[in-house]
Amino acid sequence: MIQVEINDEVIEAKLGERLLTVARRNASHIGFVCDGNSLCTMCECKILSGADQLNPPTEAEHTWLADGRMADGYRLGCQASLRGTEQVRVLTRAEEMRRQLDAVIAPPAGTTAIENLRPLLANIAAINWQHIGRWPSNLLHAISRIGLPAVFWPITDLSLLVDDTVRITRQLLDTNTNAKRLTATPAERPTLTD
Ligand code: FES
Repeated sequence: MIQVEINDEVIEAKLGERLLTVARRNASHIGFVCDGNSLCTMCECKILSGADQLNPPTEAEHTWLADGRMADGYRLGCQASLRGTEQVRVLTRAEEMRRQLDAVIAPPAGTTAIENLRPLLANIAAINWQHIGRWPSNLLHAISRIGLPAVFWPITDLSLLVDDTVRITRQLLDTNTNAKRLTATPAERPTLTD
């Protein structure tokens, strides 16, 4: 078994597994609207360490991801698969943005909401730019890769997609609730029935 750390949580994985598969199985916070067909880029992840333990970026990643993002270590979770046995550390884009938003809503000590807003806006701009800047070649490339019908409806297993989305949402809500319980003062702590 290989260890993959996704959003600070260590998960067991198998050689050849895609990062998206590992994340979905564990209900890690990650997006996958196109069901792993490299069309939505919502599974984008930042590889914090162990990039050499993954397959090289695929043609689909070169099509959808800006060169600058790839140079910063971003990959598509549905395209990056485990090729080595050393640990890989990953921060998903969904979680990265959640943390950036958290830092704006509740700035950590010594920081301000305004200064924390900057990285969030920069991230949003970079994500949108990589879509707009590559349009329509990214779309045409996707059509030639998987065909027009699949571009419009890429989902192969709707019930699994819904099930995984529900599990991830629940896990996310539980994590937020637990974090609030840990940081709340005694008077603010929710009762057991909350
Ligand atoms: S799941 Fe949509 S691009 Fe990876």
